Amino acid sequence: MHGGFSLGPVNCGYIKGGTYMLQGSDPRVVTDQKRPQGAVQRIDGTWTVLGHSEARAVASNPHVFSSAVSRFLQLPNGLDGAEHWEFRTLIDRYLTRAVVAELEPTFRIIAHEVVAETEGVDKQDAVELGITFAVRAMTAWLGWPRELEPRLVEWVRSNAKASRSGDDARLAAVAADFDTIIREVVEPRLSDASITDVTASLVRDESLGRALEFEEIVSILRNWTGGDLSSMALCIGVVVQALAHNRAIQDRIRSGASDRELEAIIDEFLRIDSPFVTNRRITTCPVTLGGQQIGAGEQVNINWTSANRDERVFGDPDAFNPHNLAANLVWGTGTHECPGRDLSMAELRSFVRALVDAHLVTPDGEPERATYPLGGYISVPVRLTPR
Ligand code: HEM
Repeated sequence: MHGGFSLGPVNCGYIKGGTYMLQGSDPRVVTDQKRPQGAVQRIDGTWTVLGHSEARAVASNPHVFSSAVSRFLQLPNGLDGAEHWEFRTLIDRYLTRAVVAELEPTFRIIAHEVVAETEGVDKQDAVELGITFAVRAMTAWLGWPRELEPRLVEWVRSNAKASRSGDDARLAAVAADFDTIIREVVEPRLSDASITDVTASLVRDESLGRALEFEEIVSILRNWTGGDLSSMALCIGVVVQALAHNRAIQDRIRSGASDRELEAIIDEFLRIDSPFVTNRRITTCPVTLGGQQIGAGEQVNINWTSANRDERVFGDPDAFNPHNLAANLVWGTGTHECPGRDLSMAELRSFVRALVDAHLVTPDGEPERATYPLGGYISVPVRLTPR
């Protein structure tokens, strides 16, 4: 059992329901106001960490802030310590830079295909394009049949709607639908050795010194796919919205920005408006957040979006500065830092290049914000003018 733990000078605030998550409003307005308190307690008693140093402290101290928050199997994100390391090592091998480099040409082809399909329709919704691209890129990566595309696209939409509704039964139904799709893909690979794709490799993976159990395979695939399809579509919405308002950056990308420069641009757009808002932890011992006591067994939510806008680290949170990279928490930090970052970046780069090479992108109406726990937008209307 650990003793107490101090995280520096953070006061405790209290957010009444209602005002915290107004439907369709920008949640960053509220978290920008509350952030000086570092961490706040919500009406349901859970804590939300809003400051950058506090978010880092929570994510970097897994012995105090455990990831074992869910009653469902979550591999690897619901594990701690050696168990987490074991599964994380297994997963990382599927997401190395070398693996991603081999996939990138496929992502480029898919991005060109999705952009080419917009021909003749100038007014587009960047989030819808993002959903189509995310689904095709993911199915190509994992070797899933192309016929699944309409079901997966529909699933991403239903998932966003269920998240907005906050209705647990609806969320559970959407999660069950996704599990059905995963099971349909896994089952034939258990018995048919002639299928050789990334999903089949995972199904037959024995790097733990044993075969994976069926539920373990489903859980790993769920974490590679379900949440991340939505994240990718939301990331594309945020990035295209920012590009549409910034012709100079579009020009810079067209005129030969390197992959590294483009990544820094994308990362900075995502820092300003991070659509992957939150992850949960549970305290293993009493902990002091700036003099405020949080008891053992209490839920602490890291709000990455707010932490990424902390004035103490970034100055004006809306000022675009691609040199902010080192402090950027879009992909998390610590032992659970996103293993899909390189893959996601390869997808985002491919999509952005295909889009701005073919079109001048300008705003075309008001975007609609997503609702907590999702960030970014559910709709970003843009005009695509062929170049
Ligand atoms: C598209 C944008 C994405 C964003 C913004 C994002 C962000 C994040 C963040 C912030 C975490 C940290 C979670 C925590 O500390 O609890 C995380 C973890 C994770 N991400 Fe991503 N992610 C993205 C895409 C992906 C993709 C494409 C994959 C799969 C290929 C992926 C797989 C994972 C997994 C498995 C974890 C848990 C890692 C662990 O517990 O060790 N992510 N992600």
